[in-house]
Amino acid sequence: MSAIRVAVVGASGYAGEELLRLLLRHRQCKVTAVTSRKYAGQPVSEVFPRFLGSGLEFSAPDARELAANCDVAFLALPHGLATEFAIPLLNAGVKVIDISADFRLKSPAKYKEYYGVDHPAPELLGKAVYGLPERYRDRIRQADLIACPGCYPTSSILPSAPLLAAGLVSPEGIVVASMSGVTGAGRKVDLAYIFPECNESVKAYKPCGHRHLPEIEQEMAVAAGVDELAINFVPHLVPTNRGINSTLLLNMLPGCTAERVAEVYQAAYGNERFVRVLGAGRCSDTKYVTMTNCCEIGYSLDKHTNKLIVTSVIDNLTKGASGQALQCMNIRFGLAETEGLL
Ligand SMILES: NC(=O)c1ccc[n+]([C@@H]2O[C@H](COP(=O)([O-])OP(=O)(O)OC[C@H]3O[C@@H](n4cnc5c(N)ncnc54)[C@H](OP(=O)(O)O)[C@@H]3O)[C@@H](O)[C@H]2O)c1
Repeated sequence: MSAIRVAVVGASGYAGEELLRLLLRHRQCKVTAVTSRKYAGQPVSEVFPRFLGSGLEFSAPDARELAANCDVAFLALPHGLATEFAIPLLNAGVKVIDISADFRLKSPAKYKEYYGVDHPAPELLGKAVYGLPERYRDRIRQADLIACPGCYPTSSILPSAPLLAAGLVSPEGIVVASMSGVTGAGRKVDLAYIFPECNESVKAYKPCGHRHLPEIEQEMAVAAGVDELAINFVPHLVPTNRGINSTLLLNMLPGCTAERVAEVYQAAYGNERFVRVLGAGRCSDTKYVTMTNCCEIGYSLDKHTNKLIVTSVIDNLTKGASGQALQCMNIRFGLAETEGLL
């Protein structure tokens, strides 16, 4: 089989850099284009010395040129930009894997509510497959447009979906408190994210109406088999580079025992290479997933309040973004799902 030609659009950002790290060790891919407006014409190794020897050079993003040179394009752009690349690429037969938020929501009205503008291509929302392999593997195999989940959503949906689907916890009253490292904000200069401002400090932000909220609610509702649900989602910024911890408080329903939780997780994730469930009473820890494509889940049953307390950790740039995107590509092209990821 000839190598899959891969383009990374927005390769000079954190998600793009992480994708390059993974792609350069992937045995069935050839990176044919990496874009950046700022660094167009410069060797990638001048911006990221770790890629010395890759021979890659940044080019300006040009959808028509990209379409002629790749079989699959990863879009690692700020939200709002994916459509202008996705449409010409899809029309040229290129598979598109979007890492931004642009195709994750099924409802154009929710997109407008949370992103403040009409969706530029609402007809694509129905075609996009949500790129969470552990939930949608069969659909990803057929998809031309894959919408990779956000980092907070990945860390919240993976631990909750099987429990909601099995009726062990209620879709009502869900609370998710998440903590993210600073790379989650992107590779940009912004006072709030410079070292002296965020080091030695932890703070919550956007406790109501964060943009990942409708995505988490959408996927939790699907798992629970309800039309919609409402949760509390409170993100926090913590002074680490990478990593997310999400702590979920879930109301236990009758029949929710430690044994049943273990059984349900075993059925959902026992054969999954990238989800690791710890035993009852244990808490997950970001240091065990950093630079990996794994999600680690721990849980405890609090009989005092009848809550199931679930913790879930991922690396925001790997399972939360580029690793998961590559996992989707492997599935879409019929490759071993772990290629480039172990
Ligand atoms: N960081 C995370 O943990 C994470 C996790 C999950 C999903 N995501 C999503 O992934 C996407 C990328 O995130 P990131 O953290 O990598 O952001 P980033 O560090 O800010 O990088 C953005 C990239 O897009 C390019 N770009 C910006 N504006 C552009 C434009 N108008 N046209 C073409 N290229 C443009 C930038 O390069 P130039 O400016 O040089 O063109 C850069 O390569 C975002 O949508 C983000 O929400 C990020």
